[in-house]
Amino acid sequence: MSTMQKLVGWIDDRFPLTSNWKTHLSEYYAPKNFNFWYFFGSLALLVLVLQIVTGIFLTMNYKPDATLAFLSVEYIMRDVEWGWLIRYMHSTGASMFFVVVYLHMFRGLMYGSYRKPRELIWIFGMFLYLALMAEAFMGYLLPWGQMSYWGAQVIISLFGAIPVVGDALSTWIRGDYVVSDATLNRFFAFHVIALPLVLVGLVAAHIIALHEVGSNNPDGIEIKKHKDPVTHIPLDGIPFHPYYTVKDIMGVVVFLMVFTAIVFFAPEMGGWFLEPDNFIPANGLKTPEHIVPLWYFTPFYAILRAVPDKFMGVVAMGAAVVIMFFLPWLDRSKVKSIRYRGNLYKTILTLFVISFIGLGYLGTQAPTAVTTNIARVLSIIYFAFFLLMPWYTKIDKTKPEPERVTG
Ligand code: HEM
Repeated sequence: MSTMQKLVGWIDDRFPLTSNWKTHLSEYYAPKNFNFWYFFGSLALLVLVLQIVTGIFLTMNYKPDATLAFLSVEYIMRDVEWGWLIRYMHSTGASMFFVVVYLHMFRGLMYGSYRKPRELIWIFGMFLYLALMAEAFMGYLLPWGQMSYWGAQVIISLFGAIPVVGDALSTWIRGDYVVSDATLNRFFAFHVIALPLVLVGLVAAHIIALHEVGSNNPDGIEIKKHKDPVTHIPLDGIPFHPYYTVKDIMGVVVFLMVFTAIVFFAPEMGGWFLEPDNFIPANGLKTPEHIVPLWYFTPFYAILRAVPDKFMGVVAMGAAVVIMFFLPWLDRSKVKSIRYRGNLYKTILTLFVISFIGLGYLGTQAPTAVTTNIARVLSIIYFAFFLLMPWYTKIDKTKPEPERVTG
């Protein structure tokens, strides 16, 4: 017996190392037909780790104090060794997190990954999405630039539209009558410790639920239905390690090429990843001409602005996110994957994507009478996708699913 085997044996007598390695990696059987769309879960994991590591190093020089915050970020950019790299990795990572997560969610939509028995994976995913939005929103206040300040002011004051308790609630969230040092301090606490803990915990729950039922796949059929009679291994399954560990590393390499290209050549992404107004220190007496959130919030911001009444706008914006939780129970189709759905579903899904991207674009622009009307139409399409789903998924002419996974 080698020293290594002896060491592993010693650990195994005290901690389930080998058995966990087998259950979750070397003897965890994943469908053999994963495609491009299955890269984004592991990439989301990678970006989460990147954000935590770069965040720790930023915290070493950042000052959560309204008089120092902006200058401490400039200090990180100019004077801290490699500080500019850490900061740009963190700001680029924030946007890339949403790129990856939106593609990850869209994969779920295409292949019906939220359907039975994966409802809880989806629900944990939705909580992850909410936590990620809170994390990004609070992180954006920290540089204490004009857009940090006024973005927070606008979003927190939305709570003021809630009848009766609204004003008290927004004052309670801010810790003051306006966004101030108190707000900055609590957002720092949430951004740096509370929400990262929630995110890590939710990711654990997400993966545990996934490994309980096994992955879906581009055919949307269950590989556990056809097992080898002797070994009980799914016939269309392959061990996660080494097959998908290697495949995922390939995805990581390509992702890092894109990521580093942005970090080194276009960290502001023309204002999409870092807004020009945020290079101006926060000034509570001077409102920027256009207050716009970063791109990942703009579809919901456009829905908010499309509704004439402020309170109803807030309700619509909230409903636009909350409605996604119910997807597993809204879809009544006989099949899961888009491959076997009919033209009706495919058309409606395409319209939904157009509405989401269209709203995202309109949310970045100053509203006019015409664009507000377009945003209204797109909002109706957005909600119709969910609300009419029980109906159109039922009448959609689906194709028969294959027994075994295809290619
Ligand atoms: C921090 C964010 C997230 C991380 C780190 C993460 C991680 C992962 C990983 C590693 C997988 C397995 C690999 C894969 O199928 O791509 C997975 C699967 C899945 N995730 Fe996520 N996820 C995140 C957010 C979300 C969100 C926001 C949703 C949806 C609301 C979601 C829904 C799903 C579903 C339905 C599956 C199963 C997919 C299938 O088997 O076809 N995830 N996730």
